[in-house]
Amino acid sequence: MGYQAHFRVWRGEAEGELRDYTVEVNEGEVVLDIIHRLQATQAPDLAVRWNCKAGKCGSCSAEINGHPRLLCMTRMSTFAEDETITVTPLQTFPLIKDLVTDVSYNYVKAREVPAFTPPDLEPGEYRMQQVDVQRSQEFRKCIECFLCQDTCHVIRDHEDNKENFSGPRFLMRVAELEMHPLDEAKNRPEEARGDHGLSMCNITKCCTEVCPEHIHITDNALIPLKERVADRRYDPLLRLFRK
Ligand code: SF4
Ligand code: F3S
Ligand code: FES
Repeated sequence: MGYQAHFRVWRGEAEGELRDYTVEVNEGEVVLDIIHRLQATQAPDLAVRWNCKAGKCGSCSAEINGHPRLLCMTRMSTFAEDETITVTPLQTFPLIKDLVTDVSYNYVKAREVPAFTPPDLEPGEYRMQQVDVQRSQEFRKCIECFLCQDTCHVIRDHEDNKENFSGPRFLMRVAELEMHPLDEAKNRPEEARGDHGLSMCNITKCCTEVCPEHIHITDNALIPLKERVADRRYDPLLRLFRK
């Protein structure tokens, strides 16, 4: 049976406002369905970014009742029928209009991570171990929704940290490359610390909590990367060798 739900949706640009709407909800629908119905019936100019409606493109990221979520993967059945559902844009990135933000910060940070450096090997000269494959497969599940970037307080609450902090998604990329047995780049832990601001991460794990792919960003990427930084910087033998 359908019902009428009460929605509050951010409309406009930075100087915009939350507007109230009452929208029909049917069984099995997700929040993105309701946003589409709102566009079709009451707000044809409502801006929202989406693509796959299957939790795979990472486009429909927004905040629902203040929590970073994918609009297409948030079922209406998780809310009470009389609950007011507030939908707002990602807070950490500049607002373009309504629910659409400018996420180009993330692409700038992506370009700052040096690419995989392949070794000089002929085909068949190296056999990847299954454990190495599995480790990077977890990180490769990332759909680049940037919900982890949105929620990390290092940039969410401190705009001026953006220059020096790449955020959990791209620190995870550095970790993935550092753990790859064939990557020839030798300086990734130091780059993570210096260029990508790894030491600003104080392991709050908020990034891990919001990841729709359930990647253990903190435990499997950020903490091991911090350990590698500590090993390289404070290992007495290595320090002696460096001197
Ligand atoms: Fe999204 Fe998870 Fe990738 Fe972060 S790590 S961008 S939360 S899929
Ligand atoms: Fe931010 Fe995740 Fe670290 S939320 S502080 S990058 S553990
Ligand atoms: Fe693709 Fe939601 S529309 S993840």
